[in-house]
Amino acid sequence: MCGIVGAWLNEPGDGGVQALLVEGLRCLEYRGYDSSGLGIIQPDELIVRRRQGRLAKLESLLAESGDAPALLGIGHTRWATHGEPSDGNAHPHQDAGRRVALVHNGIIENYLDLRHEVEAAGIELQSATDTEVLTQIIGIELSKGSEPLEAVRSCLERVRGNYAIALVTREPKERLICARQGPPLCIAQSERGVFLASDVMALLPYTRQITFLEDGDIAELTRSKVSIIRLNGERVERAPRQVDWDAESADKQGYAHFMLKEIHEQPDVLARAFHGRIDVERGDVQLEGDSFSDAALSKMQRLQVTACGTALHAGYIAGYMVEGLARVPVDVDYASEFRYRNPKLSEGTYALGISQSGETADTLEALRLAIRLGAHGTCIVNSISSSMVRDCQGMISIEAGPEIGVASTKAFVAMLVASYLLAIRTARARGTVTAEAASQLLRDLRELRPKLSTLLSDERVAKVRAIAEHVVDSKGFLFLGRGINYPVALEGALKLKEISYVHAEGYPAGEMKHGPIALIEPGMTTLALAPKGRLAEKLRSNIEQVKARGGRVICVGSDPGCHAVSDEGLAVPDTNEWLSPILNVVPLQLLSYFIAELKGCDIDKPRNLAKSVTVE
Ligand code: AGP
Repeated sequence: MCGIVGAWLNEPGDGGVQALLVEGLRCLEYRGYDSSGLGIIQPDELIVRRRQGRLAKLESLLAESGDAPALLGIGHTRWATHGEPSDGNAHPHQDAGRRVALVHNGIIENYLDLRHEVEAAGIELQSATDTEVLTQIIGIELSKGSEPLEAVRSCLERVRGNYAIALVTREPKERLICARQGPPLCIAQSERGVFLASDVMALLPYTRQITFLEDGDIAELTRSKVSIIRLNGERVERAPRQVDWDAESADKQGYAHFMLKEIHEQPDVLARAFHGRIDVERGDVQLEGDSFSDAALSKMQRLQVTACGTALHAGYIAGYMVEGLARVPVDVDYASEFRYRNPKLSEGTYALGISQSGETADTLEALRLAIRLGAHGTCIVNSISSSMVRDCQGMISIEAGPEIGVASTKAFVAMLVASYLLAIRTARARGTVTAEAASQLLRDLRELRPKLSTLLSDERVAKVRAIAEHVVDSKGFLFLGRGINYPVALEGALKLKEISYVHAEGYPAGEMKHGPIALIEPGMTTLALAPKGRLAEKLRSNIEQVKARGGRVICVGSDPGCHAVSDEGLAVPDTNEWLSPILNVVPLQLLSYFIAELKGCDIDKPRNLAKSVTVE
């Protein structure tokens, strides 16, 4: 939901701060891409360049403008919340006196009140955004003689909402300031200067030592020092932390899209997610922290999972695993529903948030609510420097590395591995699975990597592409699964919807006859998730029901009986029931990728979406 960068260089180098800010925005474009802009301080003026559309449009504008290389500036890539995507609503916004330019990620809830305040001061607002009011209020404060940091602090004191902001001031002095209340912001200092960004990925070219702002922090950055205050003016220190992700992972490395690269990374991601955590001989799992000790887990009475989107689908699967193996009652909820339904949590509840970014607003708030209601807060996350990790007592890092494609793929697989580890650890702590049985479960996990690689061989990928060509013009898609593969059906449908813009629904196969079967007719494609096992025969009957009504069925899985009655098939190696989603999802990810490619969609940046959803 919007990407922010800022920099103050020691030397202009090639292209000045403009070039570095554009590079930073390229890293953050996944966060929003309907417009972008820069605010640059030149010796005697503040220059704002902004354009609706992709970053390339801003780059053309910058090339035409021919501005002299500068040292100090901010940049923004937008995902619109207030005001349509347009040049005028793009960030940065400037105050009437052109002293300050500001960029914002988030939502200012009381912006209408603040807007009236600004209008009452005789200022005509130039945009439909909630952001501009902040700029104007800070401008008013500066015009009254306030120091820049104090002007920002006193403005933010009046703001209700959720924001990360960065701003540059030209008068009374040149300053680079940023503040956080919700969406992430981090800072880096190196011999080239000082930098800020919404995501560490944009800072890794400069240093691995990153300072993460906390909610309520306001930071003033000069080339020699970073000073941080709280909203009440009190000074605080935030020590930098070492970040181990590398900048190359944010490169496409020869793949046409990040999504395809990330799909192909999955065998490595899978192995990383369990590396150093499993003890096959002893039949147990090591997870860091007291939350996952025998003593703590044996007291767990209930697990409440909350998440959004793909992470929620991983959450459903986690639910099947923990309930099935550790015999703990589990509830899984949309984070956005949980937080508003006045939930009642019983004693001994573990709350588990699942999130790639660790910054999804609904998941964060749902977890915070559960913790306030007495739950023990835990999370499964990719970004270990995220707010979610700070809020929780226990954390399992999925180790997937940066995921850039807006459609989540490798993070999903890694979330499933983390969930499997949690389920086995809990089962061992509670004695519901023997050491021998756990050993076998862990051996199955260890054997999964070559199976996953098989699914990504050139031949298998070509087969998925051929099927995509057959079905690309289907009227609609139905994804059917049973048991632990029902959430895989939901995930297959979500992937297809979000990147191909075609209508797709995921359904429990047994529920089809209660309504969705009415959709079946020639021209409708059904994907049936068919692992071998106790539910295969039931699924086979569902496939027959679709076929009897003229629907085309593509079978995805290891069960030969289901393949035999389907029109086409994508064979998947066999594994245990709990792990089957990790294999079955791969052909679905590839199918949605190829359908989107055939339709000419923008795969890594699907319309209307953003990678990190930091607004409600
Ligand atoms: C998945 O492809 C999505 N684009 C989206 O559903 C995502 O999974 C969701 O927004 C949750 O994000 P998180 O994992 O960062 O919390």
